Amino acid sequence: MRIGVFDSGVGGKSVADAIHKAMPNAEVIFVYDHVNFPYGSKTTEELISIVTPILQELATKTDVIVVACNTVSTNLIEPLREAISVPLVAVEPMVKVAAEQTKTGVFAVCATPRTLASVRYQWLKDTFAIGKTVVEPDCADWSRMIEANSINEQKIKQQIDEVCRAGADVVVLGCTHYHWIEGLITKILDGRAVVLQPEKAIIRQLDRIAKEIEPIV
Ligand code: DGL
Repeated sequence: MRIGVFDSGVGGKSVADAIHKAMPNAEVIFVYDHVNFPYGSKTTEELISIVTPILQELATKTDVIVVACNTVSTNLIEPLREAISVPLVAVEPMVKVAAEQTKTGVFAVCATPRTLASVRYQWLKDTFAIGKTVVEPDCADWSRMIEANSINEQKIKQQIDEVCRAGADVVVLGCTHYHWIEGLITKILDGRAVVLQPEKAIIRQLDRIAKEIEPIV
């Protein structure tokens, strides 16, 4: 199976690496959009015109595309599914799992401003997090720090300590860039909360699709 993986930047590489490791026989084609990075501060209209042609091109070489960008998945997945000829695997904040796992009734979602503003994210909260408190730290500059590989550990520590003080016992990584600092966040948490990110769920979904798809080559 030929698997396309798309993101604005290095977040997608973390997902592509995880897929490659779990599915060594699949061909993984990773495409990112460094020209238009970051996506998290763009409007939905801007993102549609930027992302549609990139995925149309990627669809000509792949059997399935993982939209390894929460910002794109939560805001554009429906119009993209209409425009793109191969199945799209969407990646979105793991609100349902967090709501099921929290014991304190409080969890944190770290995501870009555009993801947090999306109708889909609001729907996830309204549907799965009823009666829970969702803390949303200001992560607006995290993806830039990670893309530039200049991570301000102190700043991240302040934000993570704050969500712990608010009672969160689960921290959702709702932007694939943050997968690169999962280890740092886990270290800062030091057992106070667990970290959720979607790579295993993406791979399970790809396994299901692989069974359904007849490879073209
Ligand atoms: N990696 C992307 C996400 O999962 C967005 C990063 C950005 O371009 O701001 O939301």
